[in-house]
Amino acid sequence: MSTKYLFVNTMGCQMNVYDTDQIRERLAHMGYRTTNAVERADIVIVNTCSIRDKAEQKAFSFLGRLAPLKQRNPEMIIGVGGCVAQQEGKRILKRVPHVDLVFGTHAIGRLPAIIERILQTRCRVVDVEISDSISTDDYVLAAYPQTNVAAFVTIMRGCDNYCTYCVVPYVRGRESSRAMADIVAEIEHLVSKGVREVTLLGQNVNSYGQKEGLGSFAQLLMQIDAISGLDRIRFTTSHPKDLSMDLIKCFNGLNKLCRHIHLPIQSGSDAVLKRMNRRYTRRTYMEKIDQLRTQCPDIAITSDIIVGFPGETDADFEATLSMIQEVGFDGLFAFAYSDRPNAPAVKFTDKVALPVKKERLQRVLACQEEFTLKKNSDLVGTLQEVLVDGPNGNNADPARNDRDEELAAKTQWSGRTTTNKIVHFSQTAADSDNQILTGKMLHIMIEKALPHCLLGRNVSPGDVRSSLGKGECTHAA
Ligand code: 5AD
Ligand code: SF4
Repeated sequence: MSTKYLFVNTMGCQMNVYDTDQIRERLAHMGYRTTNAVERADIVIVNTCSIRDKAEQKAFSFLGRLAPLKQRNPEMIIGVGGCVAQQEGKRILKRVPHVDLVFGTHAIGRLPAIIERILQTRCRVVDVEISDSISTDDYVLAAYPQTNVAAFVTIMRGCDNYCTYCVVPYVRGRESSRAMADIVAEIEHLVSKGVREVTLLGQNVNSYGQKEGLGSFAQLLMQIDAISGLDRIRFTTSHPKDLSMDLIKCFNGLNKLCRHIHLPIQSGSDAVLKRMNRRYTRRTYMEKIDQLRTQCPDIAITSDIIVGFPGETDADFEATLSMIQEVGFDGLFAFAYSDRPNAPAVKFTDKVALPVKKERLQRVLACQEEFTLKKNSDLVGTLQEVLVDGPNGNNADPARNDRDEELAAKTQWSGRTTTNKIVHFSQTAADSDNQILTGKMLHIMIEKALPHCLLGRNVSPGDVRSSLGKGECTHAA
């Protein structure tokens, strides 16, 4: 039997990255091997994102480019999964005639049966059924070699918050949480395959388990913290309204929890936050930031901002800029508002004109830039504990000058600090002849701050795991 190949194009957030692993795993059981060459694939899957209009357009443009491939190889199965699939369902079959299969965000477990059916009958299939709860069987443990140091683990899916701009409740369904025992078993399995860091994924991890009475997110973190062989825990995303004191204290109390939180604020104007249905105010958000910094003074805080939400006035926008300055984020993702199907804000009048949105976006990014660089610069001259991801494949940073290029050219490895900053560093003679550093925890002396990464030098005699407590870092004398 000749080898069969699967090509997956994953778009969007980490949830899709995790789902793609689940897709790969299920198709591996059917004999499909992953290929990076789309033209040699027997099955091509596009795992799509519909969070913003641009993401959706990207999915359709990729699908359009597959037409000549399908013409040359009519046996090729082309499948569309993820949020656009869930949102558009059978309309995709009409719009893109060479698509064979549309499967929604809850259909991954049924994929092998669907593919069998297509192979036998060459019919076109749409499966966008959504279920209200998660069962143990919805997830499989990855058997194929896991070579990454860091892995994602979905702990819940869906969302019940209905922020008025957001498509997620309509494409990922109702919020439901996986059982703690299943999550712990999956992480133990990943650790046995060499994973040292996990990022727990959910649209609103702070409300983990509440609906089903499974226990709190803080309790889940405590269980994961006790898994031996695991070094680091991260999570995303947190909703500010549900960030509990119990969870905030975990940043102080749990050894493996990294000192970084992504806490989307979306706007600094209470009037806009209200129309977004975010259910917190500028003041209550700031109180949470103060509590986080009291418990963990050097915690890194990142956030998301939407500019140009319907009805956003100049004064609302100025409030967002002043909020960015008041908090002093370590990093920020900013987006221009776009209408999403089914989201209530579609019907809001007083939409903000595109040129205004674009101008506001530029101003937010410019305002944040100086904070990002300052937060990075604060680390120059400190020793940071860095978990090495692997050889440094991507030195590209548009803001680098020639001198930086020189430094970066010498760097050979990349990793992250506990505060989630990317560090590129060079290997020295003490690292003994190109030994593999991937997965090692090293002390890196930070020598230079760039806008999106740090450059440093390895000063550890070897792996420094457990020589320091809690990812501790120290200022050089
Ligand atoms: N328009 C623009 N940005 C959006 N986001 C979510 N929905 C929209 C939308 N309709 C942003 C939010 C969210 C991030 C993942 O994407 O900032 O936190
Ligand atoms: Fe969307 Fe709001 Fe749910 Fe986040 S909390 S996924 S922004 S509805």
